[in-house]
Amino acid sequence: MWIFARRLIIPCMASSFLVLGIESSCDETGVALVRVSEDGGVPQLLAHALHTQMAMHAAYGGVVPELASRDHIRHALPLVRQALAQAQQALPSVDVVAFTRGPGLAGALLVGAGVACALAAALGRPVLGVHHLEGHLLSPFLSADAPEFPFVALLVSGGHTQLMRVGGVGNYELLGESIDDAAGEAFDKSAKLIGLPYPGGPHLAQLAEEGDAVAFNFPRPLLHSGNLDFSFAGLKTAVLTQVQRLGELTETQRADVAASVQEAIIEVLTRKSLAALRHTGCKRLVVAGGVGANRALRERLNATCKAHGVRVHYPELQWCTDNGAMIAMAAALRLQAGVQKATFDYSFEVRPRWPLQEIIEAT
Ligand code: KG4
Ligand code: ZN
Repeated sequence: MWIFARRLIIPCMASSFLVLGIESSCDETGVALVRVSEDGGVPQLLAHALHTQMAMHAAYGGVVPELASRDHIRHALPLVRQALAQAQQALPSVDVVAFTRGPGLAGALLVGAGVACALAAALGRPVLGVHHLEGHLLSPFLSADAPEFPFVALLVSGGHTQLMRVGGVGNYELLGESIDDAAGEAFDKSAKLIGLPYPGGPHLAQLAEEGDAVAFNFPRPLLHSGNLDFSFAGLKTAVLTQVQRLGELTETQRADVAASVQEAIIEVLTRKSLAALRHTGCKRLVVAGGVGANRALRERLNATCKAHGVRVHYPELQWCTDNGAMIAMAAALRLQAGVQKATFDYSFEVRPRWPLQEIIEAT
């Protein structure tokens, strides 16, 4: 049941409704269906479909925005059909259409927003724009073992490195963030410097398995800064200097550089996460975003947190990188918690640069 108020729509708290979510902020087109049930429990993921453009961009060594947009156009509707078929639902049973409003590549965002708004307009259903980072933050709710509030979230993606206190849906306190490059960028740029293909992060992580993590002493930026901010730009410069000094790298040296860079990033992320847990008094840590897929980071965080009586939650690997399920889930949780309303405004303005702070202040 829906309550219509001006051009806003608010689901009745006792009602069950179906959310279709579309993610298209970068190089993954993701679509998912999430059901909010009457019992007020965690919304249930019914289906999800994903197309990654990784292979297409690999030839260029990075994401080509125009190609990304065109590929989203090719895949968005077939993925919607796929998700609906998987969930055995017909399009008219969708109650709300959610999409990533930002941050991300403008053209790529416009495709997802355009498809979402066109579908919603055709169905006469409301739309809801979701902040991509909130999708990552709430992605652990896609797991059977969802965390309880409050928790500290370490958000480590290709574009962001942030520590946040999450008190509830829409209740986020930024504790610290990168003042320059993100952790994912540090992985990707270092990988490029040692000749690894795009996307560098997973390749560097794989090569690091064979390397010596103490072979090179790369800087641990802002480790002793006394606050919870990060800085990774200097690390990339240190890797460049080291690589130039070594000249032609042997296989062993490449693996050693990979392991040493990874070690520097992991040490900073682990120590700062621990400091954030101490600062907030939280006993739960949630790790979200693409870098959260890193096995060595997980091992270190597990060991450190265990020693300090802290429980760590990771979204499953498939929810660490960009996907539609986290967007549908974030929309479902926001509607369920009553912190945002879906609207019939189909003008689909996107926000390529959208500080999370703005949704915190608006909530
Ligand atoms: O969250 P995400 O999929 O996209 C953004 O919103 O940015 O994160 C992508 C980032 C890339 O920098 C990628 O290299 C990194 O996550 N990444 C990894 C691993 N898997 C993905 N970095 C280190 N180790 C990994 N296993
Ligand atoms: Zn992301």
